[in-house]
Amino acid sequence: MVDKALGTGGRKSDKDLKIRLKTARGRKTGSTKWLERQLNDPYVARARAEGYRSRAAFKIKEMDDKHKLFRKGMRIVDLGAAPGGWSQVAAKAIGSTDANPLIVGIDYLEMDPIPGVKLLMKDFTDDDAPAMLIEAMGGKKADLVMSDMAWPTTGHRPTDHMRIVQLIEVAAAFALDVLAPGGVFIAKVFQGGTEHELLHMLKRHFKSTHHAKPPSSRADSAEAYLIAKGFKGTNDTVPGEGEYDR
Ligand SMILES: C[S@@+](CC[C@H](N)C(=O)[O-])C[C@H]1O[C@@H](n2cnc3c(N)ncnc32)[C@H](O)[C@@H]1O
Repeated sequence: MVDKALGTGGRKSDKDLKIRLKTARGRKTGSTKWLERQLNDPYVARARAEGYRSRAAFKIKEMDDKHKLFRKGMRIVDLGAAPGGWSQVAAKAIGSTDANPLIVGIDYLEMDPIPGVKLLMKDFTDDDAPAMLIEAMGGKKADLVMSDMAWPTTGHRPTDHMRIVQLIEVAAAFALDVLAPGGVFIAKVFQGGTEHELLHMLKRHFKSTHHAKPPSSRADSAEAYLIAKGFKGTNDTVPGEGEYDR
């Protein structure tokens, strides 16, 4: 049920225009709140109007505006690609087409095809996932590995923290394997959740690291992004870094 609350004078203020929902039978308060937020979110409306599959599209656009991530003809791996907003933005920005696809996306969720993007439906943490991604890239190095992956939360903060850090570590190890020198790695992290060790490792392998909280990332969410730029390449890898050595 959708209620549009009207102001008393008959004139609608922005606040009054907010769509409020009553909790329908069988729908939990949490889902009602989520739905209410979606219906009132300007980025959701913009995504729909501009043909993007997710509001997340604006996060990568905003990070690109600031950090100049995309350039024509580069190769990209999109980890946790569904429903496809980041890949849509990237394909357009770099000129990836079905005739010459430059992007490979992976998600364990099924996705509708995206022009210019090869999609794998697979869990990235499966042992054979990295090899499948490399094969899908035709064995070529990538210029950008971008990860928006996050496990569904359990509600148990230490567990959630551990799981996200682990996921970022696997993504980072993959990035070190497949990036060409000068390449960029972006990963969703959670504020206060970037492990010291991981950040330290990225600092050694990349010329610069940055934290980003794009305006479209909800202010009340702990979500943030880590951007590592200027991959130093295989010759510059530092001995003694265990699993990150190649
Ligand atoms: C926030 S969404 C990504 C949104 C996407 N960037 C976009 O613009 O539409 C996170 C995605 O990560 C995926 N994901 C999480 N863990 C994964 C894993 N281990 N392997 C593959 N996909 C994973 C989820 O299924 C989900 O679709």
